[in-house]
Amino acid sequence: MGTEARKSIAMQADSDDGTRKTRFALEVRDLYRFYHTAEEETLALRGVSFEVKNGELVAIMGPSGSGKSTLLSCISGIAEPDGGCVTIAGVRITRKTEIERAAIRAAKMGIMLQSGRLFDQLSVYDNMLMKMWLAGKVNRKRIDSLISAVGLTERLHAFPSRMSGGETARASLAVALASDPDLLLADEPTGEVDEATEEELIRLFESYRENGGAAIIATHSDSVIARVDRVIRLHDGRIIDEK
Ligand SMILES: Nc1ncnc2c1ncn2[C@@H]1O[C@H](COP(=O)(O)OP(=O)(O)OP(=O)(O)O)[C@@H](O)[C@H]1O
Ligand SMILES: [Mg+2]
Repeated sequence: MGTEARKSIAMQADSDDGTRKTRFALEVRDLYRFYHTAEEETLALRGVSFEVKNGELVAIMGPSGSGKSTLLSCISGIAEPDGGCVTIAGVRITRKTEIERAAIRAAKMGIMLQSGRLFDQLSVYDNMLMKMWLAGKVNRKRIDSLISAVGLTERLHAFPSRMSGGETARASLAVALASDPDLLLADEPTGEVDEATEEELIRLFESYRENGGAAIIATHSDSVIARVDRVIRLHDGRIIDEK
C-alpha cells in the first residue's frame, strides 16, 4: 500500500463523526450479535451497553461462551454486530464498510487477540513498524522505549515463531501499543504466561493508563481483576454486573 492509500485510509477513519477527542474512549450501545448455523441460532450478545473513559482499565469476565470474544470482535470492527452501535474516541465504527472499519481500527486501536497475534513473516521490530505505519505514526524512538519496557531489547529482530509464549505475549503488547492507541483490546492477554510475565504485562497496562490510555481486557485472572478500575460480568450475552 502506498503513502496515498494510507493517507486516504487515515482520512476515512476521521471522516463524518468528527475527530474531536471525547471523554469516552469507547461507547457501546445496545449491541446484538447472532451466529447462525444450519440447525441453530446462538444469541451471543443480547443488548450490551457500557462506556469506557479515557484512562480507565475495564475487565470483562464471564464463563466460557458468555460472549467476551464476540464483544471484543464487534468493538474492533472485525465483526459487524446485528444491532447497536460502537463509537471509538468519538468515531462510530459500526455500519461502515470493512475498509472503513479497518482504517478506524488501525488509527485508534491496539489489539491483543487470543491467537495469531503477530505476523510470523515479520520480526518484532517490523511488526511494530507496520502497526505505526498503518496508523500514520512512525516513531523509531517509541519502538526502542516500548521494547525495553517489555524487556525484549535483545529479541527486537526475532521472528514470532522463534519466541517463547511469554515473549510472544510481551511482544504482542508492544505491537498493540506501538501506535499509541486510544483504546486497547486484549482477549485473555495473560492466559498463557507465568506469574512474573503476568505482573510485567499488568504494569504495562497501568503505565498505558497513566498516559490516558483506555483498555478493555477479557480475563479470568484474579491478578488482573484486582488491578483494573471496573469489572463487567457477562452471562449469556448480557451484562449481569458492573462495578
Ligand atoms: N463463529 C461462531 N459460529 C457460531 N457460534 C459461535 C461462533 N463464535 C462464537 N460462537 C458462540 O457464541 C457464544 C459466545 O462465544 P464467545 O467466543 O464470544 O465466548 P467467550 O466468552 O469468549 O468464551 P471463552 O471464555 O471460551 O473464550 C458461544 O455460545 C459460542 O459457542
Ligand atoms: Mg473467548
